[in-house]
Amino acid sequence: MCGIIGYIGKRQAAKILVEGLRRLEYRGYDSAGLAVLNNAGLFVHKSQGKLERLVNRFQSNRCLGNVGIGHTRWATHGIPNEVNAHPHYDSKRKIAVVHNGIIENFRGIRTHLESTGCRFRSETDSEVLPHLIDSYYKGNLLQAVQSTLRQVEGNYAIAVISPNEPTRMVAARKGSPLVIGLGADEFFAASDVTAMLGHTDEVVYVEDDEIVDVAMDGVRISTLSGEPIQRAATTVSWDISQVQKEGYPHFMIKEIMEQPISLRQSINERIQAGRVVFPELEPLSENLGNSDKINQVVFLGCGTAYHAGFVGKYTIEKFARIPAAVDMSSEFRYSSPVVTPGTLVVAISQSGETTDTLAAVRYAKEQGATTIAITNVVGSSITREVDVTINMYAGPEIAVAASKTYTSQLAVLSLFALYVAQLRQPRDVDAIEALLHDIEDLPAQVEKVLTQAATIEHIAKRYSTYNHFLYLGRHINYPSALEGALKLKEISYIHAEGYPAGEMKHGAIALIDEEMPVVCIVSESEVHEKMLSNIQEVHARKGRIIAIATKGDLEIETLIQDTIYLPQIHEFASPILIAVAFQLFAYYVAAHRGLDVDQPRNLAKSVTVE
Ligand code: G6P
Repeated sequence: MCGIIGYIGKRQAAKILVEGLRRLEYRGYDSAGLAVLNNAGLFVHKSQGKLERLVNRFQSNRCLGNVGIGHTRWATHGIPNEVNAHPHYDSKRKIAVVHNGIIENFRGIRTHLESTGCRFRSETDSEVLPHLIDSYYKGNLLQAVQSTLRQVEGNYAIAVISPNEPTRMVAARKGSPLVIGLGADEFFAASDVTAMLGHTDEVVYVEDDEIVDVAMDGVRISTLSGEPIQRAATTVSWDISQVQKEGYPHFMIKEIMEQPISLRQSINERIQAGRVVFPELEPLSENLGNSDKINQVVFLGCGTAYHAGFVGKYTIEKFARIPAAVDMSSEFRYSSPVVTPGTLVVAISQSGETTDTLAAVRYAKEQGATTIAITNVVGSSITREVDVTINMYAGPEIAVAASKTYTSQLAVLSLFALYVAQLRQPRDVDAIEALLHDIEDLPAQVEKVLTQAATIEHIAKRYSTYNHFLYLGRHINYPSALEGALKLKEISYIHAEGYPAGEMKHGAIALIDEEMPVVCIVSESEVHEKMLSNIQEVHARKGRIIAIATKGDLEIETLIQDTIYLPQIHEFASPILIAVAFQLFAYYVAAHRGLDVDQPRNLAKSVTVE
């Protein structure tokens, strides 16, 4: 995990680095640090804890200089203290490095370097990098970094500076994201484009095993062995307002409220004249439409993305009649899954960087599977691994807990399922049309859910002191129960479990008492009556019920006081409306508990370790 940034140009680097780190903090916030080059040499400033702490202890008069690097950390090797914070530097303070990733052979390198007299300060794997670069340094920073990277194993995105070459920055990547920003007379290197928005929208995505020499006069990319690489710049469509709170107290609530827009972006172009279109899937369309070529679909993801895949499984089975499975990426790889050339793997990853998902895709490819990624980040690692990428177009998501990207994943997955159904000459065309109609209507329906924010806040406030919650749902909304519980856990630190309502009587029912609120999804569906029975079972055991129901449900109205009413919608589109209601509920519970909603403890948005 971790976020890195580098700047070289004519402006004061420190301010730009801090601003960039603020946008990268979602990647980790155990410690932060920066290094700037000036006449006095290398100025390094680090602090344990969040970036704000670093900023508060800042001595800006000592931190002058036009070239610098910065880092925000999610600890792996070594506890989150100041010594282990990046940038790390060599014994002579001539080489400073920020690193995102893990150097797997660091122990051997460290032992060797210590035997030659090197003094290490930290417990991190990353610190071997500046010492090793220094050991290779013969007056050319680029060459020293090249030699170092040929020796290290593992993954990295790094940015390196040295007072010996004060107008140069060297950056490189293998397995961790790295983007170079091209400004007017200034250049940036960062873990993602959000860090440079407002300064430039022209970027170059660095590929694995590439090294970038950034100087005041331009950027040169080459392989580790020095062969030059030409790569055209890409213009990013995200803009700065998307990475600012714009008056909201937290990014999460801003991102929840943005969902009518993000859903429109995910859906709009993809429905034309009553049909689903996915130009990016055209190369696969013949195989997708042929059950002799693709005979099973496996959805993969972690966390929230896994829950989206769960909904995808139900939808594609129902409408395209293809056997489908869903698995957590981290479990899939080690469970000897049966993957054949007839398998289609759909990997879902907001960031496109989750290590377990990347590894699962690689495994599937080795077995001959066709692979598709659904991601929100153009140029992310997963897009390099798969046969076809479907972009979600949800816009940047800064809060660690996913909200708008989940609903966009669900919308794209539903459209994908219907696209495959179209290709397979479905018998029930009306059913497809009905769902498609309601998907198109989703942004407007989500707007209606959002108008109930005050009601949901009112309920959330009353329940914010409970310590355990059970979320019950069935069928397509069983994953909604899982996601609702995950949201609450992530940001409010309340123990919450998502459970298939039909299974409740086989165990979870023993937990129910007055201290355990039960959130029941009882929206209009095939399983509505069954859910009503489950509600009665909870009721009979004095459980407190919060219901999610469809507007006009008279039975629920008389039974449950704390009900969130959703507009009427197709059962297979309902997980999107339910997700929005659950996001608001979790958000307000956490906010009333006074917690740091955007940066919950121990979590990171992009998990790039196993
Ligand atoms: C982390 C985040 C979750 C996210 C999961 C998968 O755990 O905190 O919000 O769902 O990673 O991330 P991805 O980028 O692969 O969707």
